[in-house]
Amino acid sequence: MTKDALAGRRIGFIGAGNMAEAIIRGLLESAAVKPGHITASDVMPERLNYMQSTYGINTLEDNAELVGGADILVLAVKPQVVGSVLTHIGPSTDDTKLVISIVAGLTVAAMAAGLGTGTRIIRTVPNTPVFVGEGMVALASDGPARDEDYTAAEALFAPVARIVSIEEKLMDAALGVSGSGPAYVFLMIEALSDGGVKMGLPRHIALELAAQTLLGAAKMCLESGRHPGQLKDMVTSPGGTTIAALHKMEAGGVRSALIDAVEAATRRSEELGRLG
Ligand SMILES: NC(=O)c1ccc[n+]([C@@H]2O[C@H](COP(=O)([O-])OP(=O)(O)OC[C@H]3O[C@@H](n4cnc5c(N)ncnc54)[C@H](OP(=O)(O)O)[C@@H]3O)[C@@H](O)[C@H]2O)c1
Repeated sequence: MTKDALAGRRIGFIGAGNMAEAIIRGLLESAAVKPGHITASDVMPERLNYMQSTYGINTLEDNAELVGGADILVLAVKPQVVGSVLTHIGPSTDDTKLVISIVAGLTVAAMAAGLGTGTRIIRTVPNTPVFVGEGMVALASDGPARDEDYTAAEALFAPVARIVSIEEKLMDAALGVSGSGPAYVFLMIEALSDGGVKMGLPRHIALELAAQTLLGAAKMCLESGRHPGQLKDMVTSPGGTTIAALHKMEAGGVRSALIDAVEAATRRSEELGRLG
């Protein structure tokens, strides 16, 4: 996968909100795409003015007009409005265009029903750390998307995230781990810093100790390729402090609570998908 996958392609963002902005910023900062090749549409003119003046991209208020001038469409509106957006842009979409959705819970089948079954569609589950260039994105498709479409979708997110491709039936589980995951980690950081405050540390120091520890441990896990259990054993000396703490965590059911959390989020995502 190379950033050249997007060279010369005209990318249209439908919805110029927070997620769209994070992706656009990443594309421009990494020079994967020129500002003139990006167009964003939105219902809020002031938002479009901001995007144009901050990033030098093109803007339009009409989604169908944006579709006409784009090779790749990024669907980045909230789930509540996506139905009407699909109805509006459906007639302007054909199999020359790749549609990449970041809309939570919107299945490839639901998109194909609105856009036409021949449409090349890739569904994604991103998470909010894309705002700081450390996101995680799961990609899936089961329609007529081609290998080069996956490459283009990977190139879209590469400046701000790690990327995995999975089967679409596993997208709810990906949401349960990485989509909702930042909230679990924020809770852990807060709880660890509460522990530090209880033991006498100033709040801001406790927060920094906790947050950097999660960041550093996650990086070790990703970069060493070692199993987290092995990394845990490496810092757990016989009769020491860490094993005393781990015993408390096991007694408190932390491991089981995290498994339950992922299961609950996955089930809720499945439910919302059925309702939507
Ligand atoms: N997995 C995750 O962790 C995760 C995280 C964030 C987002 N997402 C998904 O990403 C999508 C975008 O989220 P976001 O946080 O970027 O939302 P956002 O900031 O609300 O951005 C959506 C933008 O689309 C605009 N909009 C509304 N109706 C529109 C229409 N008909 N045509 C064009 N634009 C329209 C909104 O304007 P108004 O504000 O005036 O409505 C807003 O500026 C959502 O579907 C969400 O599910 C997933």
